[in-house]
Amino acid sequence: MYKLTNRLEWGKLATFVPNKRLPVYNWFYYKEGFSRELVIKLLDMFSAKKGLVLDPFCGVGTTNLACKERGLNSIGFELSPLALFAAKVKIMDYDITKLKDTLKTIKKIKFRKFDRSWIPSNVRRYFNTHTLDDILLFKGLVEDLEDNLTKDFFRLGLISSATRCSYMYKDGSVVKRRVHPIPPFRKFYHHRMKRMIRDIEKLKTKECKTLVSRGDARKLKLANETIDYVITSPPYLNKIEYTKIYNVEEFLFFKPPKKRGLRSFIGMREGDDIVKAYFSDMENVLKELYRVCKPGAKLGIVVGNGCFPDRVVESDILLSELAEKIGFSVEGIYVLNNRWCMRNRTEKVGRLRESLLVFEKLKT
Ligand SMILES: C[S@@+](CC[C@H](N)C(=O)[O-])C[C@H]1O[C@@H](n2cnc3c(N)ncnc32)[C@H](O)[C@@H]1O
Repeated sequence: MYKLTNRLEWGKLATFVPNKRLPVYNWFYYKEGFSRELVIKLLDMFSAKKGLVLDPFCGVGTTNLACKERGLNSIGFELSPLALFAAKVKIMDYDITKLKDTLKTIKKIKFRKFDRSWIPSNVRRYFNTHTLDDILLFKGLVEDLEDNLTKDFFRLGLISSATRCSYMYKDGSVVKRRVHPIPPFRKFYHHRMKRMIRDIEKLKTKECKTLVSRGDARKLKLANETIDYVITSPPYLNKIEYTKIYNVEEFLFFKPPKKRGLRSFIGMREGDDIVKAYFSDMENVLKELYRVCKPGAKLGIVVGNGCFPDRVVESDILLSELAEKIGFSVEGIYVLNNRWCMRNRTEKVGRLRESLLVFEKLKT
């Protein structure tokens, strides 16, 4: 039996919400993300002063950016093209003059009508026609920019502005259409880009190596015993559908995503028992983490338990048991949130924890 320690005052830190006020961190709102503050707290708990930090589920790069602020080398892997793109743009160093000049050029562009025929009605329905024309106009302009770094910077601003000026409403794992007054796109985009440029000056980072790339946490492209710290949060057991909520953005701004193998995302296997699939995937992840971690490496992993109509699956305990079997020692399980798992929104099934697991790879 493990001892569970309450750290409910850290509950909010397991969400993206605190990042919404922070320069650069807030360039792309990622519902699945955690906060910079949580990463900083873990780095302090681990007394991490040097070494290499890994986030095998890096999402929009919060771990990597926080490490960059601390001057710690870090590496991240992610499968979602949109999240990975946001992470890449956020961790780069920019030439501010170049960005300011590009913004000036973009501002002068006159409105033009665009061919919208390639956009299916299930995407078009989330935008007003005039806004969509403007989005397409800027998309073309941004794609024509010569410098790749500048191009990506303006593209990320465009993606988040388009989402903000749309009728999309992301409710859990589904996107709904909610018609409401929206800000004028051009003005909004321009302000956003101005703010993003200002943000670069505001966020003080240190010289270090920061890398994020496409990769699967179950098969890490890393050599044995190279990692000093792991700070991460895998997908949660009952929230495996959320990749769909970015379909509109992926369609408009990326080449239509290649048909993903059904097995690419953790726990996603059609026809299978999702609990079994989840833990079998997570066992592979933990084994990989064991392989790449140096003896003595510290790991902080935020997980949520699974809520089902007939039971709660205690992922925090089960993953700790798996980790111990693989060779980690369980240093602590800190409960960050303790909600109710409900059936039909009215009946209580049991307590649903979100926990921070702290493991160490034992020195042999
Ligand atoms: C809970 S989120 C982590 C978010 C991150 N902590 C942040 O603040 O942005 C889990 C992430 O894992 C990604 N993911 C799912 N399966 C993966 C896999 N097999 N390998 C790598 N990343 C994966 C998802 O796309 C999602 O971005």
